[in-house]
Amino acid sequence: MAKGIVIYYSRSGHTKEMAEIIAKSMNEAGLSTDCLSVDKVKADDWLKYDAIVIGSPTYYGHMAGPIKQLFDETVFFHGKLDGKVGAAFSSAANIGGGNETTIMGILEAMLIAGMVVQGDPQGDHYGPVSVNKPDDRVKRQCQRRGRRIAELTNKLH
Ligand SMILES: Cc1cc2nc3c(=O)[nH]c(=O)nc-3n(C[C@H](O)[C@H](O)[C@H](O)COP(=O)(O)O)c2cc1C
Repeated sequence: MAKGIVIYYSRSGHTKEMAEIIAKSMNEAGLSTDCLSVDKVKADDWLKYDAIVIGSPTYYGHMAGPIKQLFDETVFFHGKLDGKVGAAFSSAANIGGGNETTIMGILEAMLIAGMVVQGDPQGDHYGPVSVNKPDDRVKRQCQRRGRRIAELTNKLH
């Protein structure tokens, strides 16, 4: 049976809240999904999952250091993430604060690893974005994204 994981880094809880909504939605849509802070995850844990969803606060327009460090550790099994589903989300302090560049940085790394990334023609195109604490719009986007990730993963795996 296919499995998913949502991995997040969060200092003040905004990204964590998004992560929990996405993971709940993935579970509800029929993909058994774990939700873990980045410090509880080792890079080779990724091998156990068919969908890997990464959330980071926007730090200077990029993913936060602990998330980047975890990515860098996946080099030891480079090629083995090929074909897994990937997705990303971010919280920033400002509109135009670099939310989408952060998401794109994560998706670029996923593409290099051979992962399958789906956009969204109606919802947040690259992945859910929040300005600080998720409001109702963001929560809906997180639910929608979780459902879409689960549907795609169950189709492919
Ligand atoms: C080191 C650092 C760098 C940041 N850089 C940005 C930034 O470039 N743009 C922005 O809008 N917010 C920036 N922020 C604000 C965070 O992205 C924002 O507060 C976010 O909601 C925090 O998420 P969290 O509650 O999951 O930790 C920065 C915060 C820190 C601590």
